[in-house]
Amino acid sequence: MTRRALELAAFGIGQVSPSPLVGCVIVAENGETIGEGSYIYENVTHAEVIALNQAGEKAKGGTAYVSLEPHAHTGRTKPCTEALINARIRRVVCPIEDPNPLVSGKGFQVLRENGIEVVTGILKDEAARLNEKFCVWHQKNRPFVHLKLAMSLDGRISLTNSVSTQLSGKESAARVQSFRHEHDAILVGGNTAFVDNPSLTDRSGKPRRRKLARIVLDNRLRVSIDSTLAQTAKDAPTIIFSASDDETKIAELEKLGVEVVRLNARNLHHVLSELKTRQLQSVLVEGGTEIAGAFCDAKLVDKLTFIVAPIVIGGHDAPMAIGGEGADSLDGAMRLRDLEIIKHGDDFELTGYPQIRDEG
Ligand SMILES: NC(=O)c1ccc[n+]([C@@H]2O[C@H](COP(=O)([O-])OP(=O)(O)OC[C@H]3O[C@@H](n4cnc5c(N)ncnc54)[C@H](OP(=O)(O)O)[C@@H]3O)[C@@H](O)[C@H]2O)c1
Repeated sequence: MTRRALELAAFGIGQVSPSPLVGCVIVAENGETIGEGSYIYENVTHAEVIALNQAGEKAKGGTAYVSLEPHAHTGRTKPCTEALINARIRRVVCPIEDPNPLVSGKGFQVLRENGIEVVTGILKDEAARLNEKFCVWHQKNRPFVHLKLAMSLDGRISLTNSVSTQLSGKESAARVQSFRHEHDAILVGGNTAFVDNPSLTDRSGKPRRRKLARIVLDNRLRVSIDSTLAQTAKDAPTIIFSASDDETKIAELEKLGVEVVRLNARNLHHVLSELKTRQLQSVLVEGGTEIAGAFCDAKLVDKLTFIVAPIVIGGHDAPMAIGGEGADSLDGAMRLRDLEIIKHGDDFELTGYPQIRDEG
């Protein structure tokens, strides 16, 4: 049933940020499933309350399976702990605490104080993974960063002449759209914006609460007025971080609807904190080489995906996946944990999580 609660929570992908994904199942004393709920931000009502309303009187003495610790404070709604207590639920099964340090553990405490048995830890890794963006947002006080690159077998992300090329196949393209759907923002470097002239939109066709924000790190302000990004800025939030003092071009871009943030984009901590003030909980970094290297060097990558196409590009000058300073020892190299390999058509997706090292 915890797994079902996680599935219900996942219905909210793209529709809950900056809140967490929450799903709930109510099972009666006789083992019958009597209520199910998923949280969607715009609907306001929390998953637990939706499920309890379905269950009605039968909830008394039953078990609530919830994907994340029920909150004990009043936010946009009354505390969910109160709803569970009032429904006379006997047991709450929930894998993890809320990662928000201000409320963490308080929901479980209130439930226990009211005589409700609380069982934790079942499917805890899956539950934390499901809410990884919300967890990083609270634990690291910044947006979750997922770096994603498509590359050849020999680690090149484009051809020698840097001409924009689709390296991966159509099955991988669908996967990339689903990554975009999960995130609040997508980010590229100034050269990628200049060379590829991308649209950087979510074409997954799945529902989302807010439009995907498009971010370009472009100190020299190379993004052209005629670019797809600038020309569609009235339809999709477009933010350029730039140290440029070209006031004429800034004014032209702003007239088209682009937000230009005057800040040296080389300082990624400042960039992320600006994204945080805009309530952007997660960012998908889509390259190119230098931007990918900068995020790796700054240890600001929470999740990494390489989509590897079965081609070899070769040559001395075709851009490699990761630039920047790089590691000067194997100990300093980024090692991935929980590596998953999935096949999409002829391509392989490798996704993992950079291991946190003890810097001391
Ligand atoms: N296969 C893929 O998945 C994929 C994805 C994207 C791009 N690409 C390819 O990658 C190539 C472009 O890569 P690239 O390395 O030349 O360019 P890039 O990483 O897109 O942009 C690099 C530029 O961004 C600016 N920048 C701003 N803030 C920065 C920061 N914090 N760290 C580093 N740079 C920052 C720098 O110039 P200023 O500081 O002067 O602004 C720098 O020259 C293209 O060929 C493109 O097609 C491939």
